[in-house]
Amino acid sequence: MGQCRICRADFAPFIDFGKMPLANGFLTAEQFAAEYFYDLRVGFCEHCGMVQLIEQPDPTQMFHQNYAFFSKTSTKMATHFQEFAEDVKSHHLISTDPFVVEIGSNDGIMLQHFAKIGIKHLGVEPSANVAQMAINQGVRTICNFFDENLACQIVEENGQADAILAANVMCHIPSMHSVVKGIKKLLKNDGILIFEDPYLNDVIEKTSYDQIYDEHVFLFSVSSLTYLFNIYDMEIIDVNPQETHGGSMRYTVANRGVCNISKRVYDHLKKEAKLRRSETYENFREHCERSKRELIKALLQIREDGKRIVGYGATSKSTTVINYCGITPELVESISDTTPIKQGKYTPGAHIPVRPYEEFLANYPDYALLFAWNHAEEIAAKEEKFREAGGKWVVYIPTVRVMA
Ligand code: SAH
Ligand code: TYD
Repeated sequence: MGQCRICRADFAPFIDFGKMPLANGFLTAEQFAAEYFYDLRVGFCEHCGMVQLIEQPDPTQMFHQNYAFFSKTSTKMATHFQEFAEDVKSHHLISTDPFVVEIGSNDGIMLQHFAKIGIKHLGVEPSANVAQMAINQGVRTICNFFDENLACQIVEENGQADAILAANVMCHIPSMHSVVKGIKKLLKNDGILIFEDPYLNDVIEKTSYDQIYDEHVFLFSVSSLTYLFNIYDMEIIDVNPQETHGGSMRYTVANRGVCNISKRVYDHLKKEAKLRRSETYENFREHCERSKRELIKALLQIREDGKRIVGYGATSKSTTVINYCGITPELVESISDTTPIKQGKYTPGAHIPVRPYEEFLANYPDYALLFAWNHAEEIAAKEEKFREAGGKWVVYIPTVRVMA
């Protein structure tokens, strides 16, 4: 049983993925013996609709000076955040000397677009290595976890914000009440909060269970967030589906009564009726179990045929797939990744070697298992030569299949 982090009701898990290591816990062989594991179980709170982990490791174990995720590794995401920043600048920064705060600003991928034209800005980023990268590029950043106390400190030192932005971070923070109280204090009365996160409905529809891992303590929906913001006299005034991270939702939130509510919000609330029913989550569990059986069967068959398989992209998401499905280095010999901090290390739990991308290019495998499926378009364009050389892709979202 768990207790809902939003409304305090009790709820039971609908799926148990078993013992899991930290999704970004890439490690050296010397660290294997001391590797940390926790139980990855997920539940749906029938009272407020929030889907969430039962247990989450302590945030300081996940976000620190050796954090492995650098936002700028994807060129498509760089464009996405440039467009996000442009949209904020043209629609929401109307005061004469606006102030923009970003929560979870990572390597400065979004705030750099405000910094370079002299807009007052501040990033809040607890992982020191990625924060330093942003600072080096002229992005003002505080290295800390955002919460109510930090929000008060920011207001004292900088004044209130016109816009607070956040991408792929709100769903990481267990203490959402402290976060929303902080946002309420930090935001001007007519200010705007805009954030995006992987969208629950996409995860359910695509069986993208790999969005479930330690960092993602919540899978948000418009309904569950409406419940949360309502407590603080705030409301979702707009929603915009995004293709990023396999299907995300961008939420625009304001203090109650300040802005008109878009029809899209009501339309999504209606479409989400099925997300408020527990059978949806029972079906999802069955779909995950089927996906696991089919993926292992496909990989075993390829190996029985004497062919080589290399993983493509040592994503955080892959940690759930690899450990839940029981993928071993005998099945997938290595994973290619462009992030220097991951290269030469082993994947969490299963200990598959992570190798530099150049090795993939130099010695194509017969099959590439696409762990970075959310970047499929960018990768397919880049890997045309692999396909021409006879290489095949194994994909598992939304269903398991081999593509020539
Ligand atoms: N916004 C970026 C990074 C997302 S990864 C993008 O979309 O690509 C999540 C980031 O949030 C990490 O850099 C992590 O260190 C940071 N983070 C985690 N908890 C946080 C908190 N309480 N406050 C601010 N940032 C946090
Ligand atoms: P991503 O799917 O963005 O996020 P998460 O870790 O949250 O699941 O991770 C992309 C990973 O894939 C990152 O480690 C970089 C790697 N990658 C490549 O190796 N090649 C590529 O072409 C792309 C787009 C990503």
